[in-house]
Amino acid sequence: MKVVHTIEDLRDQLRGQLRVSFVPTMGNLHQGHLALMKLARQHGDPVVASIFVNRMQFGPNEDFDRYPRTLQSDIEKLERERDVYVLFAPDERELYPEPQSYRVQPPQELGDILEGECRPGFFVGVSTVVLKLFSCVQPRVAVFGKKDYQQLMVIRNMCRQFQLPVEILAHETVRADDGLALSSRNQYLQEAERTEAPSLYAGLRELQSRLHAGEHDTATLEADAVARLAARGWSVDYIAVRRQRDLHKPSVDEVAAGEPLVVLAAARLGVTRLIDNLEL
Ligand code: PAF
Repeated sequence: MKVVHTIEDLRDQLRGQLRVSFVPTMGNLHQGHLALMKLARQHGDPVVASIFVNRMQFGPNEDFDRYPRTLQSDIEKLERERDVYVLFAPDERELYPEPQSYRVQPPQELGDILEGECRPGFFVGVSTVVLKLFSCVQPRVAVFGKKDYQQLMVIRNMCRQFQLPVEILAHETVRADDGLALSSRNQYLQEAERTEAPSLYAGLRELQSRLHAGEHDTATLEADAVARLAARGWSVDYIAVRRQRDLHKPSVDEVAAGEPLVVLAAARLGVTRLIDNLEL
């Protein structure tokens, strides 16, 4: 695997390649990321991965400074798996060469709800860096995980609106045996919190069972799920049942008619904020 740090070296490596498959990451790679690389490999050649902790998507009180940066062990993991041909690991000056950056602003009704409401500016940061990375790598296919469900929708929407010639593929969320969605942030959890953490997903499954059993009042289902987690010591940002197609709230009639839905959740255990979702 070639490791490159500049756009010039990246372009040298990829000259003439028309079937590039791309996986952008912020590093600290786990099995979830490695599964994305495998999917990328099935849909293109060569596979390019990137590692860049993007300051623009972190709020002032978020974990940018303590976000785990583990480039050397990430390289070793990628070399063991042999799915990636080029790893692009730029520094901040390479991707943001000027102090005043252009910013990609997603439509409010998609970018300012749920995660966007709790983390103002998050999707501006994500969209901006993903557009920059696409412009550096020029992939034909790019792979994202469904754990970041709203992020995936924002990126698909951006590609559509900017007519980017990139096909976006989604990989199912990879989970630990006890159901916890894999995430780099799981390592912030204390031992007791790690034991408790799967109850976020368990709460989503419980909501799903009640919906399937015929309870169509999503506001009650959401409120019950929040109350159960709060009683276990969680501080819940949201648990929201939404339409899969646009993340809008479904009407009772739509729920009853079988509109495809997804429940999305964000909640804190101690200082660690976890997100998860489940297509219903
Ligand atoms: O999902 C992530 O790891 C990041 O948001 C992404 C897409 C790499 C952009 O920084």
